[in-house]
Amino acid sequence: LAAVITIDGPTASGKGTVAHRVAKALGWDVLDSGALYRLTALAAINQGVAADDEAGVARVAETLDVRFDGPHVYLEGADVGHDIRREEVGNFASRVAAFPGVRQALLERQRAFRVPPGLVADGRDMGTVVFPDASLKVFLVADVVARAERRRKQLIEKGISANLDDLLRDMRERDARDTERATAPLAPAADAHVLDSSDLTIAETVQAILDFWQQ
Ligand code: CDP
Repeated sequence: LAAVITIDGPTASGKGTVAHRVAKALGWDVLDSGALYRLTALAAINQGVAADDEAGVARVAETLDVRFDGPHVYLEGADVGHDIRREEVGNFASRVAAFPGVRQALLERQRAFRVPPGLVADGRDMGTVVFPDASLKVFLVADVVARAERRRKQLIEKGISANLDDLLRDMRERDARDTERATAPLAPAADAHVLDSSDLTIAETVQAILDFWQQ
């Protein structure tokens, strides 16, 4: 089996950027598992399936027609890279990610990304559920204010102004949903390295993970 590095952690901890850079440094593929939850959410919204319809959303997840091609993501052949980043889609994803049927439906799809020479998998349960035998597990944390400030900067870069208090509230709600759900709650695997990036740059965070890998 190909090597896997898992990077789990709460919302806006910088996992996505860090995962891509680690993968690039190693010449490996990357799995953005959050994108699969967002794709499920977008497909459900498009099909008029409600966020509280567990069986309905699980069916959507089972039959998801998606393709990843470099930075592009396709749903039923249409490029949805921007659509899946919408706030409404993220909120729907965060709610339906609590359903065991949805998580089960996405499990094998995630494991299929494990191909040589290796995979960097970014998510909430990569080290605990999806790749429990990963070669290296990182749990990336940052304090909630640092995360809200990063998210605000990202939004400003996209020309969207955001209020820090609103972002903080939203982030705390997401953290609560992620950590309090019964199925695959957000928590470090027993054998994970917990890395606090509150005071680290992206480059320093990437280097810390590459150092763990080379140890
Ligand atoms: O914007 P954010 O970083 O919170 O989201 P994301 O990483 O794109 O993931 C979207 C949603 O899917 C999150 O709200 C997570 O709760 C959920 N998710 C999950 O439950 N398990 C994963 N392995 C990845 C994401």
